[in-house]
Parts: sequence; structure tokens; C-alpha cells
Amino acid sequence: MCGIVAYIGKNQACPIVIKGLQRLEYRGYDSAGIALMQEGDITVYKTKGKVSDLQSFIEGKPTDSTLGMGHTRWATHGVPNDVNAHPHYSGNKNIAIIHNGIIENYAVIKEELTKRGHVFHSDTDTEVLVHLIEEIQNNEKCSLEKALLEALNKVTGAYAIVVMERNDPNTLYGARKGSPLVLGIGTDEYFLASDATPIVEYTKNVVYIGEEEVVVIKRDGGFTLKTIQNVEKTPYIQELELKLEMLEKGGYEHFMLKEIHEQPRSIKDSMRGRLNAVDNTLKLGGLKEYEHKIINANRILIVACGTSWHAGLVAEYLFEDLARIPVEVEYASEFRYRNPVINENDVVIAISQSGETADSLAAIKLAKEKGATIIGICNVVGSSIPRETHAGSYTHAGPEIGVASTKAFTAQVVVLTMMAIYVAYKRGKITESKYRQLIIELDTIPDKVKHIIDSTNEQVKKIAEIYKNAHNFLYLGRGYNFPVALEGALKLKEISYIHAEGYPAAEMKHGPIALIDENMPVVVVATNHSAYEKIISNVQEVVARKGRVIAIVTKADDIIKSLAEHVIEIPDTEESFSPLLSVIPLQLLSYYIAVGLGKNVDQPRNLAKSVTVE
Ligand code: AGP
Ligand code: GLU
Repeated sequence: MCGIVAYIGKNQACPIVIKGLQRLEYRGYDSAGIALMQEGDITVYKTKGKVSDLQSFIEGKPTDSTLGMGHTRWATHGVPNDVNAHPHYSGNKNIAIIHNGIIENYAVIKEELTKRGHVFHSDTDTEVLVHLIEEIQNNEKCSLEKALLEALNKVTGAYAIVVMERNDPNTLYGARKGSPLVLGIGTDEYFLASDATPIVEYTKNVVYIGEEEVVVIKRDGGFTLKTIQNVEKTPYIQELELKLEMLEKGGYEHFMLKEIHEQPRSIKDSMRGRLNAVDNTLKLGGLKEYEHKIINANRILIVACGTSWHAGLVAEYLFEDLARIPVEVEYASEFRYRNPVINENDVVIAISQSGETADSLAAIKLAKEKGATIIGICNVVGSSIPRETHAGSYTHAGPEIGVASTKAFTAQVVVLTMMAIYVAYKRGKITESKYRQLIIELDTIPDKVKHIIDSTNEQVKKIAEIYKNAHNFLYLGRGYNFPVALEGALKLKEISYIHAEGYPAAEMKHGPIALIDENMPVVVVATNHSAYEKIISNVQEVVARKGRVIAIVTKADDIIKSLAEHVIEIPDTEESFSPLLSVIPLQLLSYYIAVGLGKNVDQPRNLAKSVTVE
């Protein structure tokens, strides 16, 4: 996965492309490059490192151009170095390409092209595609457009590409399959990008390029949209709701901290227009047409990855506990490859912040083929997953830029909670008064989240300072808070590179207890709910082995206070809503540990925000 951005118009392309790449850097940041059309030539500048390294690299070099494209890479084929960075040229340097995705049959094509005399400079699959386009163009003496369509019919895998041609300084080509691509339509200028963030400050009018579609943009002649089979399509122009300030840090040191602090608002935004605490009702507009399918489902299958998978685990507890529907939660990547049993009475819920995760996308395509009803819970409007689903609810958390997911998680859990309550009520599994009581309590969650952020921030910072040099962490939780333990551990691993394991508290005695000694910090989510007595025993077991307990407890808890070394208090709530509160101090803890260790919080090593490769 990577970020791509391109510009054609009347203004200087280079600053627009560089700024766009900075916005897309969350998608990949191991190398970056730019191609500029300059006096009948395509100039390419590229380097290992971040977009800021590219900026330094091009300083003082000629960048005058009104047609350009740039790339920030997350390597799939070939190590991150200068040569493998995009853009890539064709052999004769007539064509340049940037690419997001994987050309799966690149090896066979490369072998064939090598036999025909092509020489490759990089290890990437991308360079093979641009050589293939060149080969077709040379053989058939045809236009770049024709060669491009033909090449795209020969490759398998996923791509969002932008292509430019030396002999034609007035045309830009884009195409997509599997990876996202958005066209921005300004006044006498056009933009192509992996998402709308590089475009929003120039225009609100966009077209999301569809699967296997190609866009050809002419400097003075508008654009045409067609399929790779050369069938013209009518573009659907949409207006962006995104605002520029949503993409900036707004005074916070990192996007992650900003996003943690945004949660009282983002949770409210997820509820807006859905939860009505005046007349105590719930309405999920996006699901209306398919709600009978969910209400009558034999079972619900949830597919997701990473943090979204943890939100899925919370949903398993919610739907089984409240709505009494059996739920299975699957890693999307595993689901697809084990020939799952799915039928028409199954409802498959795909949870994804980006809406672009390749494993989740592939999983729902499979489930759809088998006749299941597919529901999407996604954050990025217009992304690929919502466009593959039958129905769904956007989480409306706003752009999440920090690679470690925070506000997207709480937004997902809120939407799933509303769904579960609604379905439970419609199935007659909870009474009218319980339904109303749950709605009233859910409405208090944003204020409680705010209270937690304000009241625990300083304390968590101190705890982070004490434990930041630990080599291992254990996170324990039970019931609804078991997924929170997993999520707390994932957050820590991702941004501080400290090994951390999340475990069901009671399962600890079957193995991980052997790890506990005086050097092991153990974070226990121990709120005052159904398994409270049991979790006290689990805390005792850790303390007896000299583990250092950091406990998240419900306010006014005295028992755990007397046992644990550190106690972080959170307000009381319904047991089923407790993950929305208990996760907050864990987000802060990972954040402050990573900051204390001097790590790059928003762009942790080896990771990227959207994982658009399988
Ligand atoms: C979360 O902190 C991670 N960066 C990662 O696990 C993420 O949740 C996962 O890649 C799924 O992404 P998605 O929600 O965009 O599908
Ligand atoms: N497969 C290409 C590469 O390795 C593009 C990867 C990406 O989408 O980031 O360079």
C-alpha cells in the first residue's frame, strides 16, 4: 500500500504533489518520489526515506512543471531503497508510472519481457507493468491509451496507477483495480490521489474511480472514464464532506494524541441522527433495507483485521448477550482461505476504518458470492468496502491519520453497540424499559470519555515514565474487556515496539503466568462487572508472583486499590459499554510510553495505515 497523487492544470505541480504526499504518508513512508513533465522530458526525483527526505532531495533542483505525479511507498516487492522507489520509467523512458498494489503475475511477465531484451533496474512488480505497456505500444505502434488498456487486461492482482507519457505533456492516465483512486475536478485543473485528502483544499468535486476503470485526463479537454474493456462510463461526481482542518494536528504534538482527545466528539458524531435520547429511540438509516436480514439471521459472521477485529470481538459479546444471535469473529485473512461454510441466512459484517483493507475486501467478496448479506462498518466514506456491501453504517469518526487506531475503534464499537441494542429490541430479547435504559446510558458515554481523558492523563503519563523501559507487558481482561486487553497490547506493540500480550485473565494460569516476575508490568482491566470477584483472584495471582499491577477499575473500588501498584479509575457504566471507557487509559498509556521512548508515534516502523495488500 502506498500513497499516490498527481496533478495536471495551470499551477505548479510540484508543491501540490509534495503536499498531497505528506497527507498520504500514513499509507506508507519508506521511500518517495516524484515525476515532472519538463520541456518534453519526464524528470524523476526519488529517494529512500520520508516525503521530507524527498523535499530536501529536490531542493535547488528544477521543478518547474504543470503536470506531475508522486508516490510514497510501502514496499511489497523489493527493499525500500532509491532504485525501488517510484516513479518507474519504461525502458525507453517515454513512459513513467506510479503504482499502489501488487501485480501478482509480474514474475512470468518479467521473464517473457527479459527474453525480449527488456532490462529491469528495480526489484518491483511495478516496473514490469510499465515495461509491458511499452512492449505493447512498440509492437502494435498504438497509442499509450490502447497499450495501457491491453496491459491492464494482462495483469492480475491489484493496482491504482497513474501514467504519463513524454510525448504528450497534456494528458494524464489513471486506472484502478482493488486499490483506491479518486479524481478531483477543479477549474481547469485535475487531481488524482489515493484518497481525497490531497484534493480537498483545491476542490470539493470528486469522482471515485471504479473497479477496472481507466480515466484519461486532457489538460484542456476534460476527462473520460471507461472500463479496461474500453466501454465508456458516465462519471458520478460527488461533493466531498471532508474539511481541511480535519487533516491538521490542531495544536497537538501528534495525530494520535489529537485523535484520542477527539473521542468525546467522534463518539457523538457516530451517534448523531441515530441515537435519540429525547424520545429514547435508535435509528440506523443505512441498514433499513436489510434490517430484516439481521433481525432474522441464523448467525452473524464478523470479518476484520487488527483493531477492527478487536471491535468485532466486542460485537460478539454484544450480539450474543443482548440479541441472542450466535456470532463468529474471523480474521479476514484466514476466513478467505479455509473454505468457510456460509449460506443465505448468514449476515457478514465487515469492520474497517479505511474501508480498503485487502483481506477484508476479499473476505466479503467471497461471502457475497455464497449468498450472504454483507454489512459494512467503515470510516472512510466512498472507500472500497462500503461499495461492495449490501448495506452498512459509516462510523463518522472523521479522518484518522495516526497509524495506531484509536477513535476509529471507539466509533466502531459505538455503531455495533447501537446495532446490537436495536436488533435485540426488534427480536424481543430485551424489554422496552431495558431498551430505553440502554439508550439513555449510551448517550452519557461521550461525557464519560471526556472525563477519563481529563482525569487520567497526568497519572497515565507518570505510569508510562516508570514502565517505559520494560521489555514485556501483559494485558488481562475478562468478558467484554478481554478484547480491550488485546487492543491495549496491540497499541503498545505498534508504536513503542515493546512486546505485549493480551490474554483472557483466567487463561493466564494456563501458561503466561510463567512469565510473571518483578519486572513484568501487568495491565488488568478490572471493572466492577460480572466476573469482578474472579478478576480479583487473577490480580492476587499476579501480585503473589511479584508482578507489577496497573489496574483499570471502576471509581470507588477499594479492593483492587489495596492490591495493585497503580489504579486508574474510570466511571461506572453498563457492562456492555465498558470497553468504550476502559480502552481510553490504555490508548494514553501506549502513547506516552512511545513518546517517552522517542518513537515515531504517528508513523511506526514497518506499518502503514491502510493495508491494501493481502
Ligand atoms: C490498528 O492500530 C492497526 N494499525 C491495524 O491493526 C488496523 O486496525 C488494521 O490494519 C485494520 O485496518 P482497517 O480498520 O482499516 O481495515
Ligand atoms: N508493489 C509495489 C512496490 O513494491 C507498490 C507497493 C505499494 O502499493 O505500496 O513498490
